[in-house]
Amino acid sequence: MKKYLTSIFSFVIYLLAMGNAIEVGASPPAAYEGMRLYVSYCQLCHSPDGKGAGPLAEKMGIQPADLTTTVRSRSDTILKKIITGEGRQTITGRDRHNLISKAMPEWEKVFDESQINSLIAYLRFLSRSNHTLMGDAEVGYQLYQKYCVVCHGEEGGGDGIMGQLMDIQPADHSNPNEMRDIKNHQLINVIRAGKGKYMPAWRNILSRSEIEALVSYIRLLSN
Ligand code: HEC
Ligand code: HEC
Repeated sequence: MKKYLTSIFSFVIYLLAMGNAIEVGASPPAAYEGMRLYVSYCQLCHSPDGKGAGPLAEKMGIQPADLTTTVRSRSDTILKKIITGEGRQTITGRDRHNLISKAMPEWEKVFDESQINSLIAYLRFLSRSNHTLMGDAEVGYQLYQKYCVVCHGEEGGGDGIMGQLMDIQPADHSNPNEMRDIKNHQLINVIRAGKGKYMPAWRNILSRSEIEALVSYIRLLSN
C-alpha cells in the first residue's frame, strides 16, 4: 500500500514538473516585448514617457503626438494602420487632409503581426498606467525568471510550481484591478521586507536598483 502511494506521489510530482517545463518556454508578456521595441524604435521621437518630446523630434523640429492621451480613443485597427502606414489615408477625424504626417515613419516592412500587437499593448500601457517604470524592466525580467517565477508563475498569476507544491497563495501580479492601487514604493517595501508567512525578504539578496527593475517588470505583467 505504501509503495502504491509513493508511486502515485512521484507521478504527481512528475506531472507538476512537466507543467513547469512547459511554463519555462512561455513567451514574455506582450507589453514587455512592446516596451523593448518601443525603446529601440520609437522613443527617440516619442520620448520614454510617450509624451512626444524625444531628442530626435527636437533635432528634426517635429511634434509627435502625445501618445499617453491620443492612443486612448484609438482602436487597435487604427493604431495598426498608423504604425504600419498601410491604409493610413482611410483614417477619419484628422484635421488636415485626414493624413498622419510623413514625419511618422511607416513601419510596415519592419515588424510582423505579433510585434505590432506587442507595440500596441505597450502603447496601451503608456496611456493607461498611472505608475512610471522606475527601473530597467529588462533586468527585472531576468531577475523575475530567476527568483520569483517559482512562486508567482511565468505570467505573474500566482501559479508557480513552488506555490503549488507548498499550497501557498502568492499575490497575483497580472490582475490590473489589484495592481492599480498599489504604489511603486509599496511594492518596493514588500519586496525588501517580505510579507506574511511565505513572501521572503529580498533585501539581503537584491540591490535597490534590482528591486526597482523588478517593480518595472511587474507593472508590465498587469497590462
Ligand atoms: C522620426 C520620428 C518618429 C518615430 C521614430 C516614430 N514616430 Fe510615431 N509619430 C511621429 C510624429 C511626428 C507623429 C505625429 C503625426 C501626426 O500627428 O500627423 C507620430 C504619430 C504617431 C502615432 C499617432 C498618434 C495619434 O493617435 O494621433 C502613433 C500611434 C505612433 N506615432 C506610434 C509610433 C510607434 C509605435 C513608433 C515606433 C515603432 C513610432 N511612432 C516612431 C514621429 C515618429
Ligand atoms: C516562496 C514563494 C515566493 C517567492 C519565491 C516570491 N514570492 Fe512574492 N509573494 C509570495 C506570497 C505567498 C505572497 C503573498 C503574501 C501575503 O499577502 O501574505 C507574495 C507577495 C508578493 C508581493 C505583494 C503584492 C501585494 O499584493 O501586496 C510582491 C510585490 C511580491 N510578492 C514580489 C515578489 C518578487 C519580486 C519576488 C522575486 C524576487 C517574489 N515575490 C518571490 C510568495 C513568494
